[in-house]
Amino acid sequence: MELEVGDQSMFVVRGRDGVLRGFRNVCPHRGTRIVEGCGRAATLRCPYHRWSWRLDGTIAGIPDRAAFEPIDDDDAGLLPVRVDTWEGLVFACHDPHAPDLSTFLGPVVDRFRRYELAAYGTVTSASVRIEANWKAVCDSFLEAYHIQGIHRQVMPFIDYTDLHYEQWDLHSHMVVPVGVPSPSGRMLSPTDVLRAMVADEVFHGAVLQELGVGLDAEVPEGLTARAHFAALNRAFLEQHGVSTELNESQLVDDHHYFLFPNLIVNHFGSSCLLSRVRPAADSHERSWWDMWILSRVAPMQASAPAVYDGAGTDMLGIIANQDIDCLPGVQRGMHDLGLKQVRLGTNERRVASFHDAIDLFLDAPD
Ligand SMILES: [Fe+2]
Repeated sequence: MELEVGDQSMFVVRGRDGVLRGFRNVCPHRGTRIVEGCGRAATLRCPYHRWSWRLDGTIAGIPDRAAFEPIDDDDAGLLPVRVDTWEGLVFACHDPHAPDLSTFLGPVVDRFRRYELAAYGTVTSASVRIEANWKAVCDSFLEAYHIQGIHRQVMPFIDYTDLHYEQWDLHSHMVVPVGVPSPSGRMLSPTDVLRAMVADEVFHGAVLQELGVGLDAEVPEGLTARAHFAALNRAFLEQHGVSTELNESQLVDDHHYFLFPNLIVNHFGSSCLLSRVRPAADSHERSWWDMWILSRVAPMQASAPAVYDGAGTDMLGIIANQDIDCLPGVQRGMHDLGLKQVRLGTNERRVASFHDAIDLFLDAPD
């Protein structure tokens, strides 16, 4: 599987021995890219002059080798990159001096044990091209303030004003209360709130629909919408043979983790939205939002993601499309000659921390 980040490309292969190995996606002969996308292969072969390598990166063949100055096999292997795994996710790293993955993730590692993310299956995945810098895309994930800007339809069941934040050195966590209306919806009854959650087409709506809870659902007397949903979600998991230690908040709320620099995990109790933002190869004003919708009860399956070329798509749901539609305007606006600074409020503190962390890396000696 190839991973392109900006104009750099690397790929990861699982060998016959089951070991994951990563390599720079470049032929040591004339610099051609070797693989594209994902697939299966017994041998890796450069498409230009047919140099070939075993899955462990050692050289397997150089056509007409006698035409070269003697080449040492050790000098003709693929260039390795570091690979590690965490919770079923594969990470690759260009930097030989970077700390190991679990040190880098720090407190996040312990925090995620309860979710058993590696047991989740992929419901759907996609890559969307966005005409905005990768950091502008990350910024939009890092705050819930824009819920009252472009996602107003969720305000009946998400209180964007009552968030909880945790900031570690680089990574951060934000809890967005679900099943509680924003202040403008405080007159809504628990049943109104639950029905708004049913109408939401993604995460909570999908769970409720699978449970047969429809738009005529009632919250039992004396219960809040969130307590009722938490119980339904717990029952949903148990129905699928998953007994969970998750508490009410973890079963209902959006537990939003930002893993610096570009991975976002939104955990919703029995489902999860995993987002990765990558700078595009051809312009710093373009990026790729790769996303995976995961479910604790979905079967494991490996399939290539759908690729959407910058256009919104119904398959991603209304919230994602609202962000996708908004971001190109953010990018264009940042070129405005009259804009001397941006202002960040306390509910955008994670945006500030993100950029502080980037500054730290930019200032660091090579
Ligand atoms: Fe958004």
